[in-house]
Amino acid sequence: MQDRYGRTIDYLRLSITDRCNLRCRYCMPDGAPLLAHSDILTYEEFLQVAAAAAALGITKFKVTGGEPLVRRGCVEFLRRLKALPGVEQVTLTTNGLLLAPVAGQMAALGLNGVNISLDAADPAAFAAITGFDRLGEVNAGIDAALAAGLKTKLNCVLLPGCETRLVPLARYAENRPLDVRFIEVMPIGAGAAQPGLNRDAALKILRQVWPDLHPVTEHRGNGPAHYYAAEGLTGRIGVIDAVSHKFCAGCNRVRLTSTGRLKPCLCYGEAADLRAVLRENPAQLPEALRRAIFEKPRAHCFEDAAAVTERRGMSQIGG
Ligand code: 5AD
Ligand code: SF4
Repeated sequence: MQDRYGRTIDYLRLSITDRCNLRCRYCMPDGAPLLAHSDILTYEEFLQVAAAAAALGITKFKVTGGEPLVRRGCVEFLRRLKALPGVEQVTLTTNGLLLAPVAGQMAALGLNGVNISLDAADPAAFAAITGFDRLGEVNAGIDAALAAGLKTKLNCVLLPGCETRLVPLARYAENRPLDVRFIEVMPIGAGAAQPGLNRDAALKILRQVWPDLHPVTEHRGNGPAHYYAAEGLTGRIGVIDAVSHKFCAGCNRVRLTSTGRLKPCLCYGEAADLRAVLRENPAQLPEALRRAIFEKPRAHCFEDAAAVTERRGMSQIGG
């Protein structure tokens, strides 16, 4: 469907839990606020929203968290989501820790891709950022995803101090058919206090090793990343420059938090309470969803920290 600014909205992110088995210092250093199980949508409820969204023309779904694989039954949920009429693509964002044992099942159910968050290629740096010495499990998850034939991307946030980490992360694309994407820190949650590098600074560092790194126009996903190729890289380098280059005019997405709030824009706290609609007046769901999408704000305001009204953290929103 189109929103009031004529943008086609065809992508919905579903945050199925706000819990996580890591404590990334820019995301949820102190863990998630404790919620009752009844606060969180059931898988049935997520599927009801997804079906209503598919009826409005939303064909692409991203399952995210927190860490989605810490919620029991995630793989079965992915299978059911992928099988809904009108659902064309289902992808997953994960920190990779629990991925290796289920990567084969995910490929078998038809998952269209997996994004693995990874901010350091060195075990000590990984532990310093995430709070846990568990890089080996993420690497096993990456290997398993590739072995299963899943389309795989790594997501690395351009944190302060990441200068020396960028090249080792980009090297994951040297001999592997995966894309490595660098994401500017958005002023959301703990990230607000940690602005890091922008796109041009990151590219400058990468070009010291791959001087021929050049933009390519091919479309490699559903999001706003720009991609770059180099002779020495099998995969592509991607950059998501949401802060330095506003791409809101082409935004195609809305988000559903684990508590059932439909968030039309990352930047603002406003969100429609679809959980109340689901539980009290389910016949109203299609109209509530349609209205919330239609009223999506024109653009974010990340350049003006005081105007950012979102108080949730990224683990509650789902990235
Ligand atoms: N800015 C940008 N990306 C963030 N993520 C978490 N917090 C932020 C932030 N403030 C990333 C995670 C993960 C994805 C879901 O969002 O690292 O890759
Ligand atoms: Fe967990 Fe992802 Fe947040 Fe890290 S960034 S704490 S992996 S939800």
